[in-house]
Amino acid sequence: MDLEPTLRAIGNQAREAIASAKTLEQLQEIEVRFLGRKGELAGLMKEMASVSAEDRPKMGALANEVKVAIEQLMSTAKTSLAGAAIHERLSQEQEDVTEPGILLPEGHLHLMTQAIREFSEIFERAGFQTVRPPEVDWDWFAFESLNMPKEHPARDDWETFFMKAASSSKEHEGRMLLTPHTTNGTAHLLKEQEPPIRAFSIGKCYRRQIDLTHVPMFHQFDGLYIDKGVNLTHLLGILEYFVKSFFGPERKVRLRPHHFRFTEPSFEVDISTDSRMAKDGWLELGGAGMLHPNVIKAAGLDPEVYSGLAFGWGVERTFMMKEGLKLDDLRTLYKNDLRFLQQF
Ligand code: DAH
Repeated sequence: MDLEPTLRAIGNQAREAIASAKTLEQLQEIEVRFLGRKGELAGLMKEMASVSAEDRPKMGALANEVKVAIEQLMSTAKTSLAGAAIHERLSQEQEDVTEPGILLPEGHLHLMTQAIREFSEIFERAGFQTVRPPEVDWDWFAFESLNMPKEHPARDDWETFFMKAASSSKEHEGRMLLTPHTTNGTAHLLKEQEPPIRAFSIGKCYRRQIDLTHVPMFHQFDGLYIDKGVNLTHLLGILEYFVKSFFGPERKVRLRPHHFRFTEPSFEVDISTDSRMAKDGWLELGGAGMLHPNVIKAAGLDPEVYSGLAFGWGVERTFMMKEGLKLDDLRTLYKNDLRFLQQF
């Protein structure tokens, strides 16, 4: 039997099939169909027994030739189809740089950080240098040098957080503590700098307290201006400047006589407001006064030559009175409730 025409026909069919294959999967099928163990060529080889012994080597060689030709075509087609497939994927995956991006959720600074920045900027505009007083400090700076006697209630364990620490110098006399006010910043400034000093201490304070208007960790700011000839009109002037800058030009400031150990005379400072927390339209926001001569002396200066003004306010309390901010529980500031924080 002459297998030659069939062999050639198989070769041609395979060539045509390979040329028209569009995908690697189709190629795979063609490969199985022609070269597979049960494929066309394998089937034909079984017929080889019927070829005369004389023609058999020739037919064998021809069968091999056809097989190798199909394999070569197959391999070339595979390479080009694989390349095309990669191209296709790349073109689909290509990024469209004109497509609008996805916005990542953006946070913002905590309200108290915003308040600290805003207050500091207002005082910096008036020539005050912003400082951050130590939160962990010695009794000397928080109390003793501020003319606060040993029996002062603030120096009691129930008012202030004290710690155990060894002390060596005069300034380190007494116990170490978490400062209950930023007036310790005033004491440090008086020790470290020569007048004229115009400084704004702002930072964290700690007291043993918690209720609607108090938390154990809170913030205060203390202003200090010490020079020759500083007087009460300067104090009133700077307080008015602050209140009008922060709250608005129609707000008024009122000083009420009070008592602080480190100032004489001393005042409580009220602002005019329609807040529910106000009494008769006035709300107390902090203390102020002219530095006590003993404080000036403790700093090694002559109270006959130098005088100074000082004021100390709560940051949270002051910030809560901002126009349009309706906050009636100070603790809300520290609950980290996003429904609240995201409003600002
Ligand atoms: N340190 C005082 C307090 O925490 C506030 C204060 C009052 C500070 C009068 C001052 C001042 O600098 O002059 O209650």
